[in-house]
Parts: sequence; structure tokens; C-alpha cells
Amino acid sequence: MPYGLLNGKRGIISGALNDQSIAWKIALKAKEEGATFTLTNAPIAMRMGAIRDLAEQTGAEIIPADATSTEDLDKLFTQSQEVLGGKVDFVLHSIGMSPNIRKGKAYTDLNYEWLKQTIDISAVSFHKMMQSAYKLDAISEWGSVVALTYMAAQRTFPFYTDMADAKALLESIARSFGYRYGRYRHVRVNTVSQSPTPTTAGSGIGGFDRFFDFADKTAPLGNATADQCADYCITLFSDLTRMVTMQNLFHDGGFSMTGISEEVMELINRPNQD
Ligand SMILES: NC(=O)c1ccc[n+]([C@@H]2O[C@H](COP(=O)([O-])OP(=O)(O)OC[C@H]3O[C@@H](n4cnc5c(N)ncnc54)[C@H](O)[C@@H]3O)[C@@H](O)[C@H]2O)c1
Repeated sequence: MPYGLLNGKRGIISGALNDQSIAWKIALKAKEEGATFTLTNAPIAMRMGAIRDLAEQTGAEIIPADATSTEDLDKLFTQSQEVLGGKVDFVLHSIGMSPNIRKGKAYTDLNYEWLKQTIDISAVSFHKMMQSAYKLDAISEWGSVVALTYMAAQRTFPFYTDMADAKALLESIARSFGYRYGRYRHVRVNTVSQSPTPTTAGSGIGGFDRFFDFADKTAPLGNATADQCADYCITLFSDLTRMVTMQNLFHDGGFSMTGISEEVMELINRPNQD
């Protein structure tokens, strides 16, 4: 049931690749809650076509931008303001990619050129996005910026390899930029740390299925879905969370605060050795 939480708000939503993408669900919810927005993704992702369906469904214009290109990002913010008729109230960063993961490189055998790409695409792009918005003064007073992250930034998950380091930087950028944007325009900046979610990026991680089940059996509420993540992000874009900033917010059914669950204990049950 829509609550009208984003009535009259304008935004930019990155990272919708297909209908499994977390950003896709966020776009649908944002529309339902009354927002108007532009959609953006890397030019190469546009060729796959699915984003056009989402644009049709939501009445959004697509503005291609490689999130590592400051030129593209300047265009994104300038054109979004023209299309939407004013400054934007919310921005979603839903972007991640590791060539080392894609090509199956172990953490102890990283290709450093690929590591640079991982960091640039998955973390520095968040800084670039906000720097572009800041310089163009493209986000309204009390606006909201959200990036998606994963708990491998705090605790080791071996299969997440160099993305863990990228997420740690992403979360740090949220704090550092959040401080400055807060003082400049009362704009808040947060990261949402989401449960494992079956998307193109998620499923690309080695052993994803088993880890998905492990997290689901560990979290008392089970894994949070992409739709539920969308609900949460909508609250962060809304006026109900104006004083929340520089936070990394876990949206994971309680996984991050659980040591071990009874369900997982049962899976590794051994005969009593006393
Ligand atoms: N799926 C999960 O398990 C999970 C869990 C926690 C956090 N996240 C994070 O959620 C975010 C969205 O991922 P998703 O799971 O929806 O997968 P997804 O594959 O649908 O989305 C990743 C997006 O990043 C875009 N992208 C890659 N390189 C880009 C570039 N240079 N410029 C602009 N866009 C670029 C891709 O085109 C794609 O749309 C990512 O930051 C991811 O790390 C995912």
C-alpha cells in the first residue's frame, strides 16, 4: 500500500540492470510512492535493453553515465535537473563490479589493474557522484543520498575478495562526504548493508547459493529481499529520516548481530563427546 512518502520528490536512480536488480525494485517503489526520477547506468548496460522496460513502466528518462567518468556524472546531474524541473531530492548509488571476482582471481593472487577498477567502479564512483552533485549544487536542502553495501566491509567473507575492500572504502566515503554535505546543505548520506540477494552482481560471487542459505538460516528474520530493501531505501529518501546521516545501516534480518543460530547448530550437529 503506497503511503505517498516521496510525493513531489525528484531523484536519480543508478544500477537497474534487470528486474532482479535491487535498484529496479527501488525504482518501482519510488514511483509508487510519488517520486519522479531519472534512471542511469553504464552505457554498456543500456545495450542489454531491459532498463528501457523499467523506464516505460515508471515514466522515467534514461541518462547513460559511466559512474567512473566525472564528465558523464556532471552531465547526469545537469540533465536530470533539466528533465525533472529542479534540483534532486534523492540519489541512489547501486553500483558494484569486480573484474577479479568475475575472472575468478583469488584474494592472494589479485590483478592490481583489476583491483583499481574494482575500487573505482564500486567505491570511488560514490565520491565522484557526490562531488559532481556538490559542485553543481544539484541536491536540494535536506536531500538524501544512499549507497548499497555489504557486511564484508566489517567482517571477512572469503568469497567476497577485493569487493570487501571496496565496500569498506564506500562506507568511509559515506561518512566523510556525509559530514561535508550535511554542513553544506543538510544533505544526508548513508549506506544500506543488504542481505545476500540473488541478482546478477550477487550471483557472480563464488559459492553464493550456499552462503545465501547460511545467512538465511542464521538471521532470526531470514534474509531481507530486494523488495524489502526497496521499502527501507524509500524511508531513507523520505522526510521521516531527516536526521539520519553518515550511518551504515544493516538491512539483513538480524544476521550481523547473530553469532550462530540453532538452525546452523543443527546442521553441524555432532555426537556428544562427553
Ligand atoms: N546482491 C547482493 O547480494 C548484494 C548484497 C549487498 C549489497 N549489494 C550491492 O547492491 C548494489 C547493486 O547490486 P545488485 O545486487 O542489484 O546487482 P546488479 O548486477 O543488478 O547491479 C549492479 C549494477 O552496477 C552497474 N555498473 C557496473 N559498472 C558500472 C559503471 N562503471 N557505471 C555505472 N554503473 C555500473 C551495473 O550495470 C548494474 O546495473 C551493488 O553495490 C552491490 O554490491 C548487493
